[in-house]
Amino acid sequence: MNARTIIAGNWKMHKTAAETAAFFDEFLPRVAALGAEIEIVIAPPFTSLQLAGERLAETRVRLGAQTMHWELRGAFTGEVSAPMLRELGVSHVILGHSERRAYCDETDRTVNLKVHTALAQGLVPIVCVGETLEERRAGATDDRVVSQTRAAFHGVPEADLAKVAIAYEPIWAIGTGQNCEPQEANRVMATIRRAIDGLSATPILYGGSMTAVNVASYMERSDINGGLVGGASLDPDGFATLIERAAVSS
Ligand code: 13P
Repeated sequence: MNARTIIAGNWKMHKTAAETAAFFDEFLPRVAALGAEIEIVIAPPFTSLQLAGERLAETRVRLGAQTMHWELRGAFTGEVSAPMLRELGVSHVILGHSERRAYCDETDRTVNLKVHTALAQGLVPIVCVGETLEERRAGATDDRVVSQTRAAFHGVPEADLAKVAIAYEPIWAIGTGQNCEPQEANRVMATIRRAIDGLSATPILYGGSMTAVNVASYMERSDINGGLVGGASLDPDGFATLIERAAVSS
């Protein structure tokens, strides 16, 4: 079964609402003509979601959030819930990004709680997995991504696994310009796909220094269904070019 193609931009802590508006002024006309063969997602900071939701409402570009809480409401100062995101037009949510695991106490357990909530609330979770440089050097890459994948989807019915996406983001490749070789990324991503039953139609995205220059070399691989793009998603012209090239090669 073939998985659909997704290119998602994770803006991290970049762009004010005004900068978000300026991005869309340039970006939206560039991608308007692209066919439906590619799902485009932009995940801006929370403070830009309302504006982005309004700008994207009549377009084919989908809106993502970068995290959320697993509870629907309550005394969780500073947190944002799935219904709050849905109300703003959010359809996708990045969960378990390595930066949140490293700096914000995200764990396999909280990722799993959030995956269940996202699915119950009709959001597409984009679950991030990936190894550190030390784990790679120790030959522990496959064990790491398999255990993160199994933990993230623990208790999720097999039928729901077609409604999720996974991003393989080797931590040493994020923001370093040192992208993982496509052949090796594809090998790890095939390992992720086999980690649990039911992932044959699940989009698995590569993330880590993906650019308009290297995107085609990933898209031609059998187990790579798209990208989760950080730095290269911030420039409207550059990101539109990356998406065009992904669409051609998918
Ligand atoms: P870069 O594309 O900047 O390496 O970031 C990747 C990433 O972390 C996307 O979530």
